Amino acid sequence: MVKVRLPRVEWSPVELASRLSRRGIRFNFASGSPDPGLVPLSRIREAVEHVLSEYGTGALAYPGAGGFKGLRVEVARYLRDYLGVSADWRDVIITSGAQHAIKLLAQLLVRRGVRVYVEDPTFYETLAPFRFQGGRVVGIRVTNNGMDIGQLAKAADEGGVVYTIPSCHNPTGVSMSEESRRELVKLAEERGLVVVEDDPYTILSSNVLRPLRALSSSVIYVGTFSKLLGPGFRVGFVVAPGWLRGSLERLEQHDFSTSTLTQLVVYELLRMGVISEVLDKARSTYKSKLSRLIEALNNYMPGSLQFNPSCGFYALVRLGVNAERLLRTAVKFGLTYVPASRFFIGKGPVDSARLSIGVIKAEDIENGVKLLSRLVKDQY
Ligand SMILES: Cc1ncc(COP(=O)(O)O)c(C=O)c1O
Repeated sequence: MVKVRLPRVEWSPVELASRLSRRGIRFNFASGSPDPGLVPLSRIREAVEHVLSEYGTGALAYPGAGGFKGLRVEVARYLRDYLGVSADWRDVIITSGAQHAIKLLAQLLVRRGVRVYVEDPTFYETLAPFRFQGGRVVGIRVTNNGMDIGQLAKAADEGGVVYTIPSCHNPTGVSMSEESRRELVKLAEERGLVVVEDDPYTILSSNVLRPLRALSSSVIYVGTFSKLLGPGFRVGFVVAPGWLRGSLERLEQHDFSTSTLTQLVVYELLRMGVISEVLDKARSTYKSKLSRLIEALNNYMPGSLQFNPSCGFYALVRLGVNAERLLRTAVKFGLTYVPASRFFIGKGPVDSARLSIGVIKAEDIENGVKLLSRLVKDQY
């Protein structure tokens, strides 16, 4: 008889929906992966070959804490050139994607009872590590201008951590206004709040404000290459303020999970200038796919959209029927999405669904929404 009590670890609704999407799905509104047509496969092949011939077995050595120096320098350059963020390369810590970064940050910043203020709704998967640490998660309303900073100011009287996705929010698609960004940074300074900014999508859009980190070097910034180069690389990073950096580097030694091989490949891709090669097409493709989604929702499911998505991959809708139950039927018709009630902090509406334009083909979006609306009507 094992005498260990396991903590509760739940399945993510995103993982469950992604599993369903693996079997012959034409209308995949579930996945947060990038459009396969935009992943620069031939350049990646070149980079992999170069890394193996240049570094040999060195490319398969254990990674050092904090990440490969060359990549940290390239990331600092990328932040400056594409996101208007200035950071010393020593403050850049490479992680296995943003998800790993947030898990490490949760381990360092959150103990039982520490308050964690988040947008309500927010991305379930990055919320999970804060909850796992025993944090007291406090949901703050989201408007079309992002997190309601007035409500945050009322709630955050005890200090704590603010976890935010200010740009192209997952799952609502909204972005925080300039005014709210300034208010948030000011509030954090006044109250001693630690702000964690999760920012996978700013890079994919040309009409987004600069990250919060550009306004204040106290903000902990989390970035990723998943949405531009492919999530299978598992390469992301944190820009950490001085007080955090050493602990973060040392904590990474607990898992050694940043792959040396993929760090080197991403380093080569950055040096080869692949980001600027793919950026224009990625920005115009996602912009047009999101517009198509919004237009189709307005035409075929009027009133279902809960927010005005401005960029990124996502839109949050209310279906009017139980989203988990409908998904089981939808899969049989070749359509998936992510039931989104668990993205809410309290008990979320059971008819919420997150629709993503990541992998679905642009020309399938309208028919996908038409099919979804028909499936919803058939439920009545
Ligand atoms: C807001 C947000 N944070 C983090 C992640 C995870 O990114 P990564 O693949 O870098 O772990 C995602 C992926 O969808 C996301 O939308």
